[in-house]
Amino acid sequence: MAAAALAGAGCERGASDESGVRLRPDDGKVLAQGAKVYAVHCAACHGAKLQGQANWRERDAAGRLPAPPHDATGHTWHHPDEVLFDITKLGVAKAANLKDYDSAMQAFGGVLSDAEIIAVLSWIKAQWPAEIQAQQDEVTRAARHARKGVP
Ligand code: HEC
Repeated sequence: MAAAALAGAGCERGASDESGVRLRPDDGKVLAQGAKVYAVHCAACHGAKLQGQANWRERDAAGRLPAPPHDATGHTWHHPDEVLFDITKLGVAKAANLKDYDSAMQAFGGVLSDAEIIAVLSWIKAQWPAEIQAQQDEVTRAARHARKGVP
């Protein structure tokens, strides 16, 4: 994985603790719920078509990053399921263990249930081409194995 592609602050961490989080991009019911959650809570920043905001790699004057795309051109798919869940539930600073990090990405923990978070991330994943989904499966598998000390 190219280091440059991991520039976002949410990316500089390893796997989270064992949470049993698993995205379900093949479950129609989950996807229907996820699409609704995305439209209401995520699209304003990440874009109705998951395109993100303009110049998303460049921090603004206040040092904040714009919202990155969630489609295949972004780096959402470089993260294992657990990390995506933590970023969404806890916000970037907590998920990445960065104490004073200022981010426009809020924590959705008090807003969305765990099931809604899994649903929206599953819907995002379902929009990726099959080979990108397969690569993110691999990232998730590797992170789980690393946690358990299994090669
Ligand atoms: C107010 C704007 C805003 C909203 C609404 C928002 N985000 Fe974000 N999101 C951001 C920004 C900005 C970042 C980049 C944060 C950073 O690195 O500082 C981000 C980053 C992320 C990341 C990390 C992506 C990566 O490649 O590292 C995930 C995952 C994410 N958002 C998911 C969501 C989900 C799911 C929703 C809806 C439930 C959502 N966001 C709603 C602004 C927003």
